Amino acid sequence: MVDLLENLDQTSRRQLHNFAHQKRVARYGRGVYLRGLIEFSNICKQNCMYCGIRSGNKTVSRYRLSPEEIMDCCREGYELGYRTFVLQSGEDDWYTTDKLAGLIADIKRHYPDTAVTLSIGERDDETYTRLFEAGADRYLLRHETASGSLYKALHPTMTFENRRDRLRALKAIGYQVGAGFMVGLPGQTHEDLAKDLLYVKELNPDMIGIGPFLPHQATPLKDEPAGTLEDTLDMIALARLFVPSALIPATTAMGTVHPYGRELALQAGANVVMPNLSPLSARPKYTLYDNKICTGDESAQCRFCLEQRIEGAGFHVDMGRGDSLNRLSRS
Ligand code: 5AD
Ligand code: FES
Repeated sequence: MVDLLENLDQTSRRQLHNFAHQKRVARYGRGVYLRGLIEFSNICKQNCMYCGIRSGNKTVSRYRLSPEEIMDCCREGYELGYRTFVLQSGEDDWYTTDKLAGLIADIKRHYPDTAVTLSIGERDDETYTRLFEAGADRYLLRHETASGSLYKALHPTMTFENRRDRLRALKAIGYQVGAGFMVGLPGQTHEDLAKDLLYVKELNPDMIGIGPFLPHQATPLKDEPAGTLEDTLDMIALARLFVPSALIPATTAMGTVHPYGRELALQAGANVVMPNLSPLSARPKYTLYDNKICTGDESAQCRFCLEQRIEGAGFHVDMGRGDSLNRLSRS
């Protein structure tokens, strides 16, 4: 694997992306699933070195949407056709298990034909279980990097062992689970990236989120170079080949690193996009990295924009719930 990563040239890269594209078409066809992303709180108790909403960043204006405001986003999203809502936030304990369970149950009561995905970081078994029982279907918790030493350097408040344990717990409870990692992290080697691929192969998650590392000006990594489009495309393609049934998003970070980054990701094995449904007032405050796209666009604009982009890239929008083939074969 390291050898392969070391020796990719333009021709073999294109071939790799092509293999991944064929694998994706064989498993999922040319449909692209859309998920409505609601960034409901940028308050976070963790302090990840790369992240713009780390607790150590005192310059960010913090916000928290109320459960009612989140429901409003869901209503707008439902009307725009979304059938998956991704509720994402920093690790914000104001959102207790009770509050979250009530909110999830409300969403499921109003919109029973939707899937609810959580992306709220590390919580204990009891919380994960209660939120699953309240109706949450999926959980995104990127492992960030499978290199123990790099993980340690980047996460002063967390450990990779615990991350792994949380992912195992989510899976055991019955969630469709999303892992994933960043490409081009400061100090990251080809060995580290090979570990990421072997780790996702072993975990066999339902979703794999991959994006380039992008610096944020108010973090300790502000002067580090960003991950590249090309390297990230290679990892997306390899993730598709390693875990053929996974749902793989063409991430916002890909759209930030290159104007056609998301389209190119779709052509290298990705099959999901996650347009923003957050209120316009919240968007500029949820900046994990500099120059994030879509922070000034209405939800309806993103919906329309993405449909154009998806069709322009040779695919079509699928507004279904889009459960992973992995899960469908398990149940
Ligand atoms: N650059 C790229 N991705 C980032 N994330 C957080 N900060 C950055 C950054 N500076 C990613 C992490 C996290 C996801 C929500 O966003 O992988 O899991
Ligand atoms: Fe938001 Fe294109 S997806 S404007």
